[in-house]
Amino acid sequence: MNDREPTRGHGKVILLGEHAVVYGRHALAVPLPRAAAAAVRPITGETTISIPYWGIHDVPVSQSQPLAGLVARVLTGLDAADTGFAIEVQTSLPRGMGLGSSAAVAVALVRAFGRLTGQEPDNERVNAIAYECEKLAHGTPSGLDNTVATYAVPMLFRRDPDLHIERVAAPEPPLVIALSSRPGSTTAEVTGVRERRERLPARYDALFDEIGALAQDGAAALERGDFEELGRLMNLCHGLLNAIEVSTAELEGMVQIARAAGAAGAKLTGAGGGGSIVAICPGAVDAVSAALESAGFRTLIPRS
Ligand code: PMV
Repeated sequence: MNDREPTRGHGKVILLGEHAVVYGRHALAVPLPRAAAAAVRPITGETTISIPYWGIHDVPVSQSQPLAGLVARVLTGLDAADTGFAIEVQTSLPRGMGLGSSAAVAVALVRAFGRLTGQEPDNERVNAIAYECEKLAHGTPSGLDNTVATYAVPMLFRRDPDLHIERVAAPEPPLVIALSSRPGSTTAEVTGVRERRERLPARYDALFDEIGALAQDGAAALERGDFEELGRLMNLCHGLLNAIEVSTAELEGMVQIARAAGAAGAKLTGAGGGGSIVAICPGAVDAVSAALESAGFRTLIPRS
C-alpha cells in the first residue's frame, strides 16, 4: 500500500439479525465499502482531530468526548503513547444512523496509527482493538460492526462468545438505504431490549432464535442471488424487530413506502429507535429511491 494513501474502515448494513446477534444468534450484513479514511501525522502540542462531515474541525481531542476515549483506546491497543498528533478523518457516513459509522472510524484510526507506529496490524488485531472501541461507544456490542468495518465482505456473523465469521460469496444485492429524520441510540435500544427480555425471557429467546434462523436462510438466499426470497425474509425480520419494540412510527411509514414502490422486502436496519431502513429492490432501485426521496427521506444506494 502507498504510505500516503489514507487507511480505510468500512460501514455496514445489517440485512438480518440485529439485536438477536447480541444474544449469540446469527446476523447477515454487507459492507458499505471505504466509508471512512484516516490520516495521522505527529505534531508538537496537543492531539487534534478533524471529521469535517460531522462538523468537527481541528478540535483538541481532550475536549471532545467520546473521541478522546476512542483515540486513547486505539493508542492503548497499539501500545503507543499520545505524543501529539493531527488526526484527519474523511467519512460520508452520518452518525447514529445504524450504518456502523463509529466502527468504520475506529478501524480507519487503528490502521492509521498502526502504520505511523510501524506496526501494520493484521485484520485480526485491527478487529480486536476496534471491538474495544465499540464497547466504549455502545456498552455491550455484538462485535458485528467492527468485524464488517475491518473485513469489508458480506458475512454471516455470530459471537457465542467466540467469533464465527462466514464469508458469503454473493452477487451485489440491489439495496436502497433511507435515513429517517432522527438518529437512534444503540446503547438505549440494546438496553431497552435487555429490560424487556428480562420480563419475558422465553418469549424473547424464541424471537431471537427465529431472527437468527432468518439470517441463516437469508445468507443462503443472498448466495443464490434470490433477492425476492431475501426480501420476504427481511419483511419477516422487520415484523419481529417491531415485536421487540425497536421500530418507530416513522420507520414503519418508510418501510411501507418502500414496499409500495416495489421493494421485495424492507426493514429497519441497525439498532432502530430512529436511524435507517434498508430495502431490497430487484428491478426497482430507482423507483424505491424516488418514492422515499419524494416523501422527504435521504437515500443511499450502496455500490462496491
Ligand atoms: O445501529 P448500529 O449500527 O449501532 O447497529 C446495532 C446492531 C445491534 O445488533 C442492535 C447491536 C450490536 O451490537 O450488534
